[in-house]
Order: sequence, then C-alpha cells, then structure tokens
Amino acid sequence: MSSPGCALLLGATGVLGTAITRYLSTKKGMERMILVGRDQKKLRDLAATVSGEALTVETVHLPSTLEAYSTLGARIPAGTVDLLVIPMGFHQPSPLGTAPKRLETILFANLMGPLVAIHQIAPGMSRGSVVLFGDAMANRPMAGFSAYYAAKAALQSLVSSLSSELAPNIRINALLPGIMNIKPVAPPDASKRWSGKVPLGYLGGNEPLLLSLDLLLENNYLTGSLLTVDGGASTAPV
Ligand SMILES: NC(=O)c1ccc[n+]([C@@H]2O[C@H](COP(=O)([O-])OP(=O)(O)OC[C@H]3O[C@@H](n4cnc5c(N)ncnc54)[C@H](OP(=O)(O)O)[C@@H]3O)[C@@H](O)[C@H]2O)c1
Repeated sequence: MSSPGCALLLGATGVLGTAITRYLSTKKGMERMILVGRDQKKLRDLAATVSGEALTVETVHLPSTLEAYSTLGARIPAGTVDLLVIPMGFHQPSPLGTAPKRLETILFANLMGPLVAIHQIAPGMSRGSVVLFGDAMANRPMAGFSAYYAAKAALQSLVSSLSSELAPNIRINALLPGIMNIKPVAPPDASKRWSGKVPLGYLGGNEPLLLSLDLLLENNYLTGSLLTVDGGASTAPV
C-alpha cells in the first residue's frame, strides 16, 4: 500500500472484520475508516474502540437488502476510498429442501452483497486495492452447504474477471481462510476435532490471516490472486 488513506470495510463487525479493523487502524496508519454493516450498535461500539486523533472513523448503517446496497455508491463520494475490504459472509448449511428465502440470504451475504458493493465503490476509486474473503474449501465443498460453497466459488471467480477490469490502478485479491477462529458458541471439542484435519496440526487464528492480508496490501505486483490460509487442510488427502 503506497500511502495511508481511507479504508471501507463491509463485514467489519464480524470476528475477522473486527481484527482487520483494529489491525488497519493500529498498524497501517489509515487516516480514515468507513465501517459499513447492518447492526448500528455493533458498528458504533467498534468505531469507538479504534477512533483516535490521527484517525477518523465513520459508520454507515446498511440493511441487508439489494436496494440498500444499490445506494452505497451514492453515499460514498468518488475519490474517497483507497482500500475496500469485504470480510462479510454467512457460513450456514442449506440441505436439500432449504427454503428459497434462506438460499437467497446465504447467496446475498457471500456473493451478491460483495459484488454489488464492488460495482458501487470501485468506479469511484482512483487507486488502491480490493480484498475479498473466499473459503479454502470452496473447491472441495462438504455436502449440505451447496449455497455457501457455490457463492464462495463464484466470489473467487470474480477476482480473476475483475483484476483485468480494475487494472492498472486498482488491484483485487482474495484471502481463502480454512477453519479458523472457532467461535465461543462451537461445541467444546470442536477445536480438537477440526485441528486433526489440518496437516500443520493446529487451527490458525487471526494472526496468519493478518500476515497474509499485509502481503496483499503491500505487494503492488499482486492482483487476481487467491491466497489460501488453512494450514494445508484443503490439499490434505481425504
Ligand atoms: N472464520 C473462519 O473460520 C472462516 C473460514 C472460511 C471462510 N471465512 C470467511 O471469512 C469471512 C469472515 O469470517 P468471520 O469468521 O469473521 O465471520 P463472522 O464473524 O460470521 O462475520 C461475518 C460478517 O458478515 C456479516 N454478515 C453476515 N450475514 C450478512 C448478511 N446477510 N448481510 C450483511 N452482512 C452479513 C456479519 O454481520 P453482523 O456482524 O451484523 O452479524 C459479519 O460482519 C467470511 O466471508 C467467511 O465466510 C471464515
């Protein structure tokens, strides 16, 4: 990243989004951050933890609908954003017979929301970088999660098509996390069970993802790249 500027985050109030917000505010010297999300209280609480003298933090409440996302470009003046980071997503099962509305929600959170946001924001960017979040297992999806993995596979394909369209001034790449950040609500044995599937023997936390994000931000020769961060899980024999 050539110089500090303005970062817009969609999905900032999630586990990785919060870690990324803190990282960008403390380590990358951003001057301005715009946190966009569907929960006003969570956005305000997060903004309060990172705002400081050298950093302006704004929040934009955006309901989770196509109509609301279609207004994003008009709400953020052209020339404002240098870095667009989209760690939004919704890892939920969709077994056969799942109601269409539920399928739509999963597709919106993992594909349509990020896609519309890029189409709304990128034309107003004069330079910088876009970072998306796929899933290391999108090419080896597990049964019962067809909507989630189809959405992530499509999101990952956007990185290739958009890299030429956005070049030469804007780069676009994606991080593909494996199973990380076992959430507090997970069953007590989940961490042990899943780490057995990782060749490196443990579940990574935010640290390896932030290191990889840094690489995508700092290496100006990277665009169209999918960077898997999963301890080898997606390439392990089944
Ligand atoms: N953590 C992992 O193990 C892992 C593994 C593979 C891939 N990933 C991907 O990495 C990204 C970040 O993961 P995470 O662990 O930070 O997830 P998370 O904690 O569940 O956060 C997801 C974010 O997406 C937002 N979101 C979910 N559904 C939405 C919807 N319908 N409309 C608008 N926003 C919505 C959430 O908003 P609220 O805060 O308002 O709920 C939250 O900000 C996701 O794309 C995820 O698929 C994560």
